[in-house]
Amino acid sequence: MNPSVPNRPCFLASKSESIIHILSHRRYMNTVEELKREAGKTACSFVRDGMKIGLGTGSTIKYTVIEIGRMISEEGLEVIGVPTSEATKELAESLGIPLSTIEKASPLDITIDGADEFDPDFQLIKGGGGALTREKRVAAKSEAMVVVADDRKQVTTLGAFDLPLEVGKNDWQRVSAELQEFCPGQVNLRGGNSPYVTDNDGYILDCQFGSTITDPASLENQIKSIEGVVEVGLFIDMCDAVVMASPSGVSTFLKQGGRLD
Ligand code: 5RP
Repeated sequence: MNPSVPNRPCFLASKSESIIHILSHRRYMNTVEELKREAGKTACSFVRDGMKIGLGTGSTIKYTVIEIGRMISEEGLEVIGVPTSEATKELAESLGIPLSTIEKASPLDITIDGADEFDPDFQLIKGGGGALTREKRVAAKSEAMVVVADDRKQVTTLGAFDLPLEVGKNDWQRVSAELQEFCPGQVNLRGGNSPYVTDNDGYILDCQFGSTITDPASLENQIKSIEGVVEVGLFIDMCDAVVMASPSGVSTFLKQGGRLD
């Protein structure tokens, strides 16, 4: 663990028993954008001809989508994508990636998506881009999930990133008040006076738990029991691999006993 960076473990060293394999390639990168691009592209090593692929949302997975588009046009790759947001749908369409819906294409072979945080047990916080509900639905219908991220997303304990929840538009104030009873920090309506509206016509609450989420499954259940909560940005036991870029290279961590093991 790098002692100068609290709550940011060396993934392997902290929980080596849960990780079975690492593939690394060294390549020195300077900017966060380069890290995102390398993680996004490297995740395409999981892509095979004929796959139905859940396409996540965000600035890292964007590079996966672009690479899949390149593989289709230059290498004749044949896949079907299922986008998790309107933004990803537009990007994929512009690149000529054949698309379907979760209703028609399920089950999917794999979902590749970004994350706001991942912990040593491969548990995730997602929803920074507001697409958590569709992202979770698509991931749940997939036979495996790969996360693409740069090393800023790696934490010991989830929660430094405000936990996003999707709520019904008419429910946000009541849900917020109920959450405030056990959330140690603030619960904020994303967008404030001009609320951010999701692709599902809902609102997002960002909850300041801080790095306290030691039992994400229990917290997810607790939050989901509040009426009006549409989805929680905790992705529990869904992720099978993380492709993580750091300034010195890209590493792929496979979860021991996971579906890509
Ligand atoms: C969107 C998400 C994103 O995958 C997550 O916010 C990571 O995004 P980025 O790669 O842009 O940091 O969960 O709802």
